[in-house]
Amino acid sequence: MPTRILIVGSGAREHALAWKLAAEPGVNLVAVAPGSVAIGREHRVRSLPAVDPLDPRAVVDAARVLSAELVVVGPEAPLEAGVADALAAAGIPVFGPSRAAARIETSKAFCHEVAAAAGVRMARAKAFAAGASEDAFTFAETLAADGHGLVIKADGLAAGKGVAVCDGLADAEAALAAIFERAAARDPRDPGHDPSADPSPVVVVEERLFGREASVIAISDGRSALALPAARDHKRLADEDRGPNTGGMGAYSPVPDLPDSAGADLLATIHRPLLAELERRGWPFRGFLYAGLILTSGGPVLLECNARLGDPEAQAILPRLSGPLGPVLLAAAQGDLGPVIRALGADVAALPTFPGAAIGIVLAAEGYPRVPRRGDRIAGLAEAAALGGLVFHAGTIARDEGGFTTNGGRVLTVVGRGADLAEAREAAERAADAVTWPGAQRRRDIGLDAIADGAVVGAPARTTAGAAS
Ligand code: AMP
Ligand code: GLY
Repeated sequence: MPTRILIVGSGAREHALAWKLAAEPGVNLVAVAPGSVAIGREHRVRSLPAVDPLDPRAVVDAARVLSAELVVVGPEAPLEAGVADALAAAGIPVFGPSRAAARIETSKAFCHEVAAAAGVRMARAKAFAAGASEDAFTFAETLAADGHGLVIKADGLAAGKGVAVCDGLADAEAALAAIFERAAARDPRDPGHDPSADPSPVVVVEERLFGREASVIAISDGRSALALPAARDHKRLADEDRGPNTGGMGAYSPVPDLPDSAGADLLATIHRPLLAELERRGWPFRGFLYAGLILTSGGPVLLECNARLGDPEAQAILPRLSGPLGPVLLAAAQGDLGPVIRALGADVAALPTFPGAAIGIVLAAEGYPRVPRRGDRIAGLAEAAALGGLVFHAGTIARDEGGFTTNGGRVLTVVGRGADLAEAREAAERAADAVTWPGAQRRRDIGLDAIADGAVVGAPARTTAGAAS
C-alpha cells in the first residue's frame, strides 16, 4: 500500500482524490501539485504551489523530494505534456497514461480509429485533414440526409468547446467552415508548415445519436481493468439541459438506468477491447479509462474516451467507494491488477461501494463558461460542511483575513450523500444552498431526471446497484 502519494492537478476532482486517499489506512502524506490552499487544508494533505503541473521535470523532482511511492495524474493537460512518460522513465510508479496512450482522449480521430480496430461501437464518423474540406462537406451532406442532425468535432483538446451538435446541415457547414478556417491559418511560430499538405486530421464529422449519457470509468494496468461505479454528468449550464455546454455542472452516482452491475458487460465490450488494441499498438494504457456513453434504444454506444477521471463525476463516485483506492492505483501503476482482482473475488469487475448514492452540484462563477468573474467573496463554506456536505474546491484563493474568494469558472463542487438519490439530492441541495457569492451560478435539477424515473436505490456493499434496484 502506498504511504506517500503525489497527485498532479488542482481542481475539485483532485481535491476529491486527495480527500479519499489521505483518509485511507497507512497513508502518511498526500501532496498535490500545485493543489490549492483549500486542498492543502485537508488532514494529511499538502499543496505544492510552486510545482508547474505541465513541466514533466518539475513533477519528477517533486516526486523524488517527497519520496512518493505513487503519482496520480488528474487532468489531461499534464498527460499531453508527457508528465506520465517522464515519471515512468524515472522509475516512479505513475497512475496516468503515456502521452501516446492518452491520444485516446486528445485525438477524437485516433479514438475512432482504435475503437474501429477493436470492434467497439461508436457513432458512424469520418476524420478529415485540413486539405480535405470538400470531402468533409460532402460527408456531412450524406449524414444530414436522414434529417436527424449531425455532430462536428474539432480534433485535439478543446476543453469541452470543440463539439457542435447540429440540428441540420446549415449549422454543420458553419461549424466545419470555422474549423477549416482555423486549420488553414499558418502558425506564426512555424511559417514553413503548409497546413493544406498536413495529413493529420483536424475534424471528425459524426452521426448524431440520441439517448441519455453516462460515464463508466475503469482503472487499468494496461490489460486488466476494474470498473468504478457509473455516474451521470450534466454538461449544459442551465436547468433542463439548456444553455451552453460546460465542463460539467453536476453529477450523480449510481445511475438507475445503467446500474453498477452493468459494469462487467461494459468492461468486456468497451474498455478491455480498447485496452487490448492500445497494447497491441505498443501503447499500453495505465490509468483511468473513461468511456463516455450514450444509451441509445439499440444499447450503449461509445461517444468519447477520456484518459482520466471525469470532473465532476469523480466528486460523486469517490465518496461511494467503500474500500481503499491507493493500493488499487499502485498495483495498476506497477502493471499488475491481478492480486487486487483476486482479493476482490475473481468474478468481481467493479470496486466495492457503500450502499447509497452521492450527488455533486457544481457552483460556478458569474460569466462561466465564457469569461468568469473572479474575486467574489464566498460565504457559507463552514455551514455547508456542518450540514454534512463535502465541499471540493476547484477555483478559489484564500483571503489574508480568512475565507476564500472565487478564482475560476467552476469554483466548487458540493456533494451530498444519502441512502438513495433522493436523499443525496436533498443533502446536496441543502449544503449548496448554504454557499453564496454575488453572481454564483448553479443548476437546481441535478439528479432530478433519475429521481423522476422512480427506481432509485443505492448499491449494497461489495456488489452493485443493479442487484438492489
Ligand atoms: P464529446 O466531447 O465527444 O463527449 O462531446 C461532448 C458532448 O457532445 C457529449 O457529451 C454529447 O452530449 C454531445 N455529443 C458528442 N457526440 C455526439 C453524437 N455523436 N451524437 C449526439 N451527441 C453527441
Ligand atoms: N465531465 C466530463 C469530463 O470530465 O470530461
